[in-house]
Amino acid sequence: MATIIDGKAVSAKILENLSAEIKNLQEKPHLVVIQVGDNPASNIYVGLKKKKAEAIGIKSTVIKYDEDITEQELIKKIEDLNSDSNVHALLVQLPLPKHIKETNIIKSISPKKDVDGFTAQNTGDLLNGLIPCAYSCTPKGVLRLLKEYNIEISGKHAVVVGRSNIVGKPLAIMLLNNNATVTICHSKTQNLSQITREADILISAVGKKVIFKDMVKKDAVVIDVGIFKDENNKTTGDVDFENVKDIASYITPVPGGVGPMTIASLMENTVELYKLQSIK
Ligand code: GUN
Repeated sequence: MATIIDGKAVSAKILENLSAEIKNLQEKPHLVVIQVGDNPASNIYVGLKKKKAEAIGIKSTVIKYDEDITEQELIKKIEDLNSDSNVHALLVQLPLPKHIKETNIIKSISPKKDVDGFTAQNTGDLLNGLIPCAYSCTPKGVLRLLKEYNIEISGKHAVVVGRSNIVGKPLAIMLLNNNATVTICHSKTQNLSQITREADILISAVGKKVIFKDMVKKDAVVIDVGIFKDENNKTTGDVDFENVKDIASYITPVPGGVGPMTIASLMENTVELYKLQSIK
């Protein structure tokens, strides 16, 4: 039976340390979250970000726009926030309505305030093995969990299922930068289970139930980034947890695994960006 990785506890420890650190800062770091439209999942995530930020002493502002805001109007607002010295960290909650091109929005965010680590400068720095202003939050949280549980990455075969710009791609690069041998799988991958069975560290970030017991090597480390509601409206992840836990060495639950780490990383990034901007 695998060790269950307690993301909630690790996240709580990070937030507690951050809260103490923030008390000693000259001013409160300020995080601005922009939300467009009324996507129910985004409402939950944005609400959670605000609540967690305020609980540890980060000032947070949510700017909510109607679905019909133009791309130009949104970019103008981002440019204003980029040059507002009272704002240290900025994110635009994704997904955006179809008429707004996500890449144009991300391009307009100043890399120094890009708390998601999504801009070309920050992803490029990551790719080049440099230290970006901010690392993408979910991948950063996954790496932190592996480190907290002293799970060796170097030399291991890490298989990442999912190739999104938010999780799969940056996570693969972070694992590579930590000397893993990395395979990225996706919806067009042939013989998925043959590849996943080779994984020492198996990470799934798909948003559908895709990882079953016969796809996992004995004593593999299994990290589940997926989170969605099943047919009974129960929150679940990509991995068939009940069966996979019997053969994995470590496994993350859903909820309570990677999810809380994303928020903790976001708060860490906010404080780091604040510090970068206050060192003149
Ligand atoms: N939507 C889902 N995950 C994320 C995230 O990490 N950042 C942003 N901005 N939007 C998201």
